[in-house]
Amino acid sequence: MTGGSGPVTLPRHVAIIMDGNGRWATQRGLPRVEGHRKGVEALRRTLKAAREIGIEIVTVYSFSSENWSRPPTEVSALMGLLKRFIRNDLAELHEAKVRVRIAGERNDLAPDIRALLTEAEALTAANTGQTLIVAFNYGSRQEIAAAARRLAEEVAAGRRDPASITPETLEAGLSTAGIPDPDLIIRTSGEMRLSNFMMWQAAYSELVFQPILWPDYGRDALMEALAEYARRERRYGGLSSAAGA
Ligand code: FPP
Repeated sequence: MTGGSGPVTLPRHVAIIMDGNGRWATQRGLPRVEGHRKGVEALRRTLKAAREIGIEIVTVYSFSSENWSRPPTEVSALMGLLKRFIRNDLAELHEAKVRVRIAGERNDLAPDIRALLTEAEALTAANTGQTLIVAFNYGSRQEIAAAARRLAEEVAAGRRDPASITPETLEAGLSTAGIPDPDLIIRTSGEMRLSNFMMWQAAYSELVFQPILWPDYGRDALMEALAEYARRERRYGGLSSAAGA
């Protein structure tokens, strides 16, 4: 991306809460599942644009731990879309040197889905292009609790001194271990909340909320979010650069 004046800041890691599929479908008198289907097309367009723009890491929230409470037909449609997305797009992602990682609880998923997720990670593990993190059956509170549980087990087994527990040791147990925090979190559809997404990792993320519904998303909307990000000044709890010494 280039701007009129001076260098433009591109985020390294963009995380997206893809919201509004249901409303997109309802507005058109279509079943909600049709919105999710169009949502996968929007995901493809957006990932392609993000690669072309040079975003190093993209995380997408595809299924939350709370989404199980939706009607069974919608849950199974989302499972089917994930399977189809991996089956149809894995070769292209691999070709584009994308490294795929999955964040979320796998034990509750059907064995064929678990196998596909493992295959996607294994096939692309050595790729050095963009990293794509698919958050599926993901919940941030669950993720933080699991990391805390692991540390507690180490303490109980006498392998860890509680005084050694720091933000860094907890972070090592998160599904995003080793991945820099998102610089920018985008949520579509006008909703303004994190909904149990990356709450630890979002400590200093810039949040951009866009009214567009996810099935309409693509390069133009992503460029708008990046332009908004470039206008923000990130301070990480420090002072503004204009505040002087
Ligand atoms: C939110 O829309 C979206 C989801 C719950 C699922 C997101 C899934 C996709 C974009 C497609 C699936 C992609 C993969 C890789 C499986 P909503 O249903 O909450 O919309 P609403 O708020 O308008 O009802």
